[in-house]
Order: sequence, then C-alpha cells, then structure tokens
Amino acid sequence: MLVSDTKPTILVTGGAGYIGSHAVLSLQKAGYHVIVFDNLSYGHPEIIKDVLQVELIVGDTQNRTLLDELFSTRNIAAVMHFAAFIAVGESVQAPAIYYQNNVVGTLTLLEAMMAANINKFVFSSTCAIYGMPQEIPMTEQHPNHPLSPYASSKYMVEKILKDFDQAYGLKSVIFRYFNASGADPSGNLGEDHTPETHLIPLALLTALKKRDHLFIFGTDYDTHDGTAIRDYIHVNDLASAHILGLEYLLNGGESEMFNLGNGNGFSVKEVIDMAKKVTGIDFLVKESDRRPGDVPILVGSSQKAQSVLGWQPQYSDLQTIVNHAWQWHQKRHGNA
Ligand SMILES: NC(=O)c1ccc[n+]([C@@H]2O[C@H](COP(=O)([O-])OP(=O)(O)OC[C@H]3O[C@@H](n4cnc5c(N)ncnc54)[C@H](O)[C@@H]3O)[C@@H](O)[C@H]2O)c1
Repeated sequence: MLVSDTKPTILVTGGAGYIGSHAVLSLQKAGYHVIVFDNLSYGHPEIIKDVLQVELIVGDTQNRTLLDELFSTRNIAAVMHFAAFIAVGESVQAPAIYYQNNVVGTLTLLEAMMAANINKFVFSSTCAIYGMPQEIPMTEQHPNHPLSPYASSKYMVEKILKDFDQAYGLKSVIFRYFNASGADPSGNLGEDHTPETHLIPLALLTALKKRDHLFIFGTDYDTHDGTAIRDYIHVNDLASAHILGLEYLLNGGESEMFNLGNGNGFSVKEVIDMAKKVTGIDFLVKESDRRPGDVPILVGSSQKAQSVLGWQPQYSDLQTIVNHAWQWHQKRHGNA
C-alpha cells in the first residue's frame, strides 16, 4: 500500500446499514478516519453509537445544502457510497422512489463532490444488472439487462459514473455484488433488514421462532436438487475488497468495475440444510411455486478483482458464512 502514514478521512454513505457498517469497521481497523452519512431510513443508529463509535451525520443524499457544508468543512478524500433502497420487489411496485433515492440521490452526492473537488468514489452496484444469465460464472463482460427498477437504478448510476469520469475526471471503483451474507465474526454487526428478504437471515429467524416457517420458491429448477443456486459472498470479504478498491483509487488508479462473488453457488436447499446444522434446530420449511423473474443459477466470477486488486476472500465456505450470521442473530434476537 502506498497511502501515506496519516490516513485520510473517508465518507461512508449508508454506513448504518448492513454492508456499510462492516465497511466502516474494516476502514477503522485499517486506520482510516471515518464519517458516516445516513438518513436512518433503514440504518441502525445503535450500531453506530455502541459498536462502531464513529461520527454519524444524519442526512439524506438528496440534501445538497448539507453535503456542500460537509464537503467544505471536512477534509474528505473519498466517498464510499452504500446508501440506497434495496428491495427488488418494492422497486417494481414503486419505481419512482427507487429512481428518486438511488439515482437522484447519487447524482446530488456526485455533484456536491465535484463542486468540492473530491474525485474518488467507491460504488455498491449489483449483479442484478446482468439480468438473465447467458453464461455461468458471469464475468464483467456479461451483457447488461437490468430487469427491475432497482437494478436499472444501479445501472443508471454506473452510466453516470462513466460520463462523470470523462467530463469531470471522477475516478470510481464499481463493485457488482452477488448475495451479501454472513456477519462480522465478533457477532456485534450483521444483517437486519426490514422487511427481510434474504434467505440466510430468513432461515435463522425461522430457527429462532421469529417466523413460523420458511418458503422455498421453486423446487423444479434444472439444478442438482431442483432449487435455485445463488452465490453468497461474506460481508467481510466485501468489506476487504472495498478497502483495496479505495486504496487503488487513492494510489491514482483509473476507474474500474469488478464483480464480487464467492465463485461457488449454493442451492436454497443446501443453505437451509446448513442453517439447520449450524443452529441444531429443525424448523418448518414449505415448498411454493417459482417467483416470476427468478433464474435457476446466478454465480459470478471475481477473477478480475483478485488479479487487479489482489483481493483474497477469506470466508467462502457456506458453514462459516451461516455460522457467523447465526452468532449475530442470536445476539440480536435472543436464543431460540
Ligand atoms: N445486500 C445485498 O445482498 C446487496 C447486493 C447487491 C448490492 N447491494 C447494495 O449494497 C448497498 C448496501 O446494501 P445493504 O444490504 O447494506 O442495505 P441497507 O438497507 O442495510 O443499508 C443501506 C443504508 O443506506 C441508508 N440510506 C438509504 N437511502 C439513503 C439516502 N438517500 N441518504 C442517506 N442514507 C440512505 C439506509 O438508512 C441504510 O442504513 C446498497 O447500495 C445495495 O443496493 C446489496
């Protein structure tokens, strides 16, 4: 790493959320000074106060006045941008709020950065940009066909970043995540979305009797056990990639885009079996029809992040991912 000994200040939008809070912890461990900017629409202020003990500015990315004040008074070297609405289904029902929050909010943030001459940006994008897989594993060359307003909102920001680089010299690292999962091994940080839509937390909440049962959507896919296969990437591996992406930019790197996935797919049934094994609890699972838009297999290749950034995921094994999530869920929601 060529970054100077006194590490700069990084603004983390959405730092009170799931992935952002893990990135904040990794930044702190790497010696960076961090400011979190979050409107707390879905974030958890108690994590900021009790666990991360980091400065929190409660604000919205659409508030240009607040951003201008922040950027003109604090010496911020780069922005990691996690703030977004993330529910694919909701985005289909209410596209306006997704475009408003995820596109207009990001555009406002970028304009404020440009006005303050801050030109380094790490962006949370998604594999949902690819749409229906035409090849497995999916590389960054896969064609883009976003199938929901949520995915389109991320795709639009990717376009904006490209244009801003060309016109204003904004340097960005775009990370297209597959399924973020797991939790910090301390059990002090983890996933807590409302409503929860992700498989591992849903399984663990069912084990904890916070839910009556868990649905499997589709058991007739062309996969080894008939259930859909997804790529689960540990949240701390996402966080470590963000540090490398940030340092790549701080060291003068050009704009780049990388997949972040595990490289291994796990089926819904395999995840449920693992959740039962890790928790030691046999919870009720019901089978249901496929959901419209769900694809049989989504697995990404992260070779590019490994070769360009030197990223080495540490927690690719499903048992470790589920075990870390379980430590967090027990602390957060009490024992079963
Ligand atoms: N969770 C996943 O599997 C996944 C996969 C691909 C991409 N992503 C992306 O990663 C990022 C983080 O996702 P997450 O799972 O941590 O979500 P999250 O909901 O836990 O965190 C998002 C945070 O952003 C804040 N926020 C939202 N809109 C804001 C705004 N306009 N101004 C300020 N703060 C705002 C929320 O309060 C919340 O704390 C998102 O951009 C998401 O699209 C997540």
